[in-house]
Amino acid sequence: MSKLYKLLILSGDGIGPEVMDEVIKVAKCVEEKSDVVFEIQKDDIGGAAYDRYGVPLSDETLAKAKESHAVLLGAVGGEKWDNLDFSLRPEQGLLSIRKEMDLFANLRPALCFESMVDASSLKSELVSGLDILIVRELTGGIYFGEPRGIEEKSDGTRIGINTQSYTTEEIRRVARIAFELASKRDNRVTSCEKSNVMESGILWREEVSYIHKNEYPNVELSHMYADNCAMQLVRNPKQFDVIVTDNLFGDILSDEAAMLTGSLGMLPSASLGAFDSNNSRKSLYEPVHGSAPDIAGKGIANPIASILSFAMCLKYSFNMDKESDLINQSVNKVLSDGYKTADLIGDDDKNLSTVEMGDKIINQLKQNF
Ligand code: IPM
Ligand code: MN
Repeated sequence: MSKLYKLLILSGDGIGPEVMDEVIKVAKCVEEKSDVVFEIQKDDIGGAAYDRYGVPLSDETLAKAKESHAVLLGAVGGEKWDNLDFSLRPEQGLLSIRKEMDLFANLRPALCFESMVDASSLKSELVSGLDILIVRELTGGIYFGEPRGIEEKSDGTRIGINTQSYTTEEIRRVARIAFELASKRDNRVTSCEKSNVMESGILWREEVSYIHKNEYPNVELSHMYADNCAMQLVRNPKQFDVIVTDNLFGDILSDEAAMLTGSLGMLPSASLGAFDSNNSRKSLYEPVHGSAPDIAGKGIANPIASILSFAMCLKYSFNMDKESDLINQSVNKVLSDGYKTADLIGDDDKNLSTVEMGDKIINQLKQNF
């Protein structure tokens, strides 16, 4: 009997709906070719949810997300909602779903496909063969720390306040994920913080070292200040295997790493919770790129980051490594045949629309199966 997996699709705003349509097509193709059935439900998040429900993430949507086997998300945000109260902004929908589902480990692989080497802003020898994985802590740190807010003093001066704080357990659990993943790759972890100026950074370094010493002594661990890491990523990115870092540094370093691979339109991500007693975990998959309102509705967005995020879903939520690899290989083949969306286009390439790119990948996937 085939396995049934419930997928909740939250397309969100901007180019989200366009790229998610291509993901649904890929999911249908995988379904035809393997022994699984995907029960697909759709709902809104971000600005789209605000327009429909008056909040960027409704309780009902959150409940559906918690009941599904995996959530596939597009992107959130857009000018239309920029003037809303902070708590109602589209981004709050995304932050709440991460927090409420306790998705503390955000995996952002930066992999440079051979056909993309020339699209990188770095020299080709620096990025050819690049394969790094950023593990970003996603539910703690300055994104969520208290106290926070904007306060006004009696003399009228205003202060904006955010707090960076981490507990031992928050650091330990994400460190374990990083070591575990490294042990299946090149066995090296670089932990990044600012322990030269921040106490939370000192604790981060101590706790990562503790988990290393007690649980993963065979993985190679090094520590690096986050600013140095930002510099090393453009100087010599191939020195890294797995980078583990906090929420804010991870946000910044992963955008930087994304650009090394040629386009922000290429990078997938997985956000994972802890395993429960049934050995399953809550999970959400989304592209690293944003909602790109400037190109929304034009049919030119690159669906690859979302399609690769679905490939990560197959691997990390459903143990479908073979199907996941086949999607990655299909994307690589289509790109190396010179088919590109507008964000990637080079002199000799053939320019595809969002839908055409989805179709090309699916045709290739059918052949690969
Ligand atoms: C990301 C995004 C989000 C973040 C925004 C949209 C809230 O930049 O996923 O990297 O800062 O985490
Ligand atoms: Mn970001």
